[in-house]
Amino acid sequence: MAESRGVVSVVILAAGEGKRFRSAKPKVLHEMCGLPMLGHVVRASEGLKPAKIAVVIGRGAEAVDRFLKDFARKPVVTALQPEQLGTADATRIGEEALGKGTGTVLVMPGDTPLLSVETLRKLVSYHRKRRAAATVLTAQLANPKGYGRIVRDSVGGVQKIVEETDATLIEKRIAEVNTAVWVFDRALLRSAISPIERQNAQRELYLTDIVEVLVMKGETVEAYQAEDAAEISGVNSRSQLAAAASVMRDRIAERHMAAGVTIVDPSQTYIDATVRIGRDTTIHPLTFLSGQTVIGNDCEVGPSTRVVSSKIADGARVQFSVLDHAVVGAGANVGPYAYLRPGATLGEGAKAGTFVEIKKSRVGKGSKVPHLSYIGDAEIGTGVNVGAGTITCNYDGENKHKTIIENDAFIGSDTMLIAPVRIGTGAFTGAGSAIAKDVPPGALGVERSEQNNIKGWASNKRKKGKRGGGTSK
Ligand code: UD1
Ligand code: MG
Repeated sequence: MAESRGVVSVVILAAGEGKRFRSAKPKVLHEMCGLPMLGHVVRASEGLKPAKIAVVIGRGAEAVDRFLKDFARKPVVTALQPEQLGTADATRIGEEALGKGTGTVLVMPGDTPLLSVETLRKLVSYHRKRRAAATVLTAQLANPKGYGRIVRDSVGGVQKIVEETDATLIEKRIAEVNTAVWVFDRALLRSAISPIERQNAQRELYLTDIVEVLVMKGETVEAYQAEDAAEISGVNSRSQLAAAASVMRDRIAERHMAAGVTIVDPSQTYIDATVRIGRDTTIHPLTFLSGQTVIGNDCEVGPSTRVVSSKIADGARVQFSVLDHAVVGAGANVGPYAYLRPGATLGEGAKAGTFVEIKKSRVGKGSKVPHLSYIGDAEIGTGVNVGAGTITCNYDGENKHKTIIENDAFIGSDTMLIAPVRIGTGAFTGAGSAIAKDVPPGALGVERSEQNNIKGWASNKRKKGKRGGGTSK
C-alpha cells in the first residue's frame, strides 16, 4: 500500500434537493437530537481523524456552509455543485475539492445520521485488507424498499447496484441494499467516475454505476455488510427523520445509563446528543435536556422539566421547571414550576421555588426565593430570604435597572423593589412595601399607610344582616 496507514480523506454529499422533505430549509440541516443531520455525519467522519473533509453543497448552500464553519472541529472545504445532477456528479466535485493526491477516500451521504464511527472504521479496514478498488457498505433489510439493491454474480462478487426505480421485479426482492457509503482508491475513483452516464429512470448521474465501470476494468469491488442495519437508514422524509431520531434517542439513553446515570423511563426522556450528565444522577420522565447542557453528579432532574444549554451542579434538584441558559449551583433547589431564564445563576444551596421567574440575576449561596416572585436584573447576596410575591420592578418602559440585595437581608412578602434600588446588608423591608429608595444596612424599609381598626364594625354588620336590612350597595 502506497498510502500511509490509517489516513483517509472524506467526501460528504450534501447538495441534494431533499424533495421528499417539502421544506424551505436544506434537508441536511433538519435537526435530530439537537444537531442537524449533517452535524451527526460530520462528527462520525471526524472520528476517523481524516486528513481532509470536503462537503459538497448545493441546495441552501449558504446556510449549509455557515453551519459547517461554526460546527466542524477540523476545517472543512466546501465545494458547490451548481446543478443537482446526481451522486456521481457530486462525488466527482467533492473528490476534486480534496486537491491533488492519492490514497483512500470515504464517500458518504449527508442524510445517514445514525452511522457510527466504529462502522466507518471497520469499513475502511476491510477495504484495505481486501486491497479493493472500491468497497461499498451494505446492509440486509427486511424492507429494502427505496434503496439501491446489490446485485451479486454467481460467485458472490458485487456485479452492479440497481436503484429501486430501475430494478426488475426479481431485483426488487434482493434484501441487501446500498447504504451510499463507499471507500475508494482515489486514483481509480477519478478514472472510473467520468464514463458514468444518465441512463436511468431519474435521468441522474448515479454513483452506483461506478461498480460496473470498475468491474469492466477488471478491478475488485467489495461489499462490507454493516452489523447493525439500523445504522444505515437514509433519511429522505420527515417521517424517516422521526424514526431515526427515536433510534438515536435510545442510543443516547443507553450511553448515559452505561456511564452511571439513572433514566427512569428512557422512552419518555429526550436527551440531545450534546448533553453531558454525571454519575448517580436521576432523570425522571418527561424531561427534555438540550443544547450545551451539563448536569453534575447526584442530581435529580424532572419530572416534566425542560433544560436548554444550562449548567446544573452536583446534588441539585430541579422539578417541573424550565431552565434556559441558566446556572444552578451545587445542592440548589428549583421548582416545582420555576422558570430560570438566560443569565439566571443560583449559588450553592440556593432556592428558586414555586411560580418563580428569574432572569439575568445572581442569587447568592444559601439565598431563597421560595414563592411567586419575579426577579430580573438583580444581584442577591448570600443568606437572603425573599418573601412570597416579591417583584423587582426592573423596567420603566424604556430601560432596565438593577436591584441589589446585600447579604443576609430579609425581603418581606409582597415587596415591590423599584429599581434602581439597593437593600443593605442585614436590612429588612416591610411586607407589602413599594421600595423606591435604598435601605441602609441593618435598617427596616417600610412603605405603607397606617392600618385602622374600627371597633365592633364586623359584629354590627352581622346584626344588621339578621334584622333583614340589606347591606350591599
Ligand atoms: C442513494 C443511493 C441508493 C442508496 C441510498 C441510501 C445513488 C444513486 N443512490 O439514494 O442506492 O440505497 O442512497 O440512503 O447513489 N446528493 C448530492 N448531489 C446530487 C444528488 C444527491 O449531493 O446531485 C446527496 C444528497 O444530498 C444526499 C446523498 O447525496 O445526502 C444521497 O442522495 P439521495 O437523493 O438521498 O439518494 P437516495 O435516493 O437516498
Ligand atoms: Mg437518501
